[in-house]
Amino acid sequence: MQMAFDPERFAQEFSILKSFPKGNLHYLDNAAMSQVPDCVIKAMVDHETLRRSNVKRGIHHLAEAANEAFEKARVQVAVYLGVNHAEEVIFTSGATAGINILALSFGQNLKPDDEILLSHLEHHSNIIPWQMLRQRRGVTIRYLPITDDGRLNLDRAEELITDRTKLVAVSHGSNVTGAITDVTPLARLVHDKGSKLMLDGAQVAPKGPIDLARTGADFYVFSGHNFNGIVFYVAVVNDILIISATRHDPCSF
Ligand SMILES: Cc1ncc(COP(=O)(O)O)c(C=O)c1O
Repeated sequence: MQMAFDPERFAQEFSILKSFPKGNLHYLDNAAMSQVPDCVIKAMVDHETLRRSNVKRGIHHLAEAANEAFEKARVQVAVYLGVNHAEEVIFTSGATAGINILALSFGQNLKPDDEILLSHLEHHSNIIPWQMLRQRRGVTIRYLPITDDGRLNLDRAEELITDRTKLVAVSHGSNVTGAITDVTPLARLVHDKGSKLMLDGAQVAPKGPIDLARTGADFYVFSGHNFNGIVFYVAVVNDILIISATRHDPCSF
């Protein structure tokens, strides 16, 4: 049974809301940066006070405790996304970093005749990495237009996705218009052409568990900081082999 949403109880979870006199803080900028509930702050403090150490770089007691917590978080994210293999979840420093990793790995294999399809509804995070790839590899970028009511114009997808299209990288939900796209038909079209689909889920992932398999996305990126989380983010990749083929160290972006 689903419990009714109780805003009063929910607000109690956030020290920042309690620190203002009742009703004095109306925070509406969640799409850019959401507030952090006390349980997340506690998890951060626990890390610093109980197991502060490098993750994946030590074998002493604290490092092992930190590794364990890190891997537990990876499993929790995988469950949230309906991903069967937790190793497909890759923690990065942000959604932008996730897209950069894709551009620097998958993108590095593209050739001048290859095309990437973006849309006119993208956050600059999902434009600039591809423009930089165009400079490096000479690929062509095309844009899916938007409808008058601010949605991806999927009616144009069939004509714009061709045999040259190697990647379609579009927002799952727009940070400008709020429109959420039913991407399943788009994924079908993309895969029929032998192409890959990357979704920018920064505005959709925080709304509730996602059935990633149903979206048909090959790559899915989103942000922790829009998600009542710490400034920590994940990129989810359905095709781990492509990402692990990169020679670039994600930490260097
Ligand atoms: C749709 C969308 N994509 C990408 C980003 C950038 O995310 P990050 O700051 O994690 O790089 C944002 C940020 O709010 C966003 O709203």
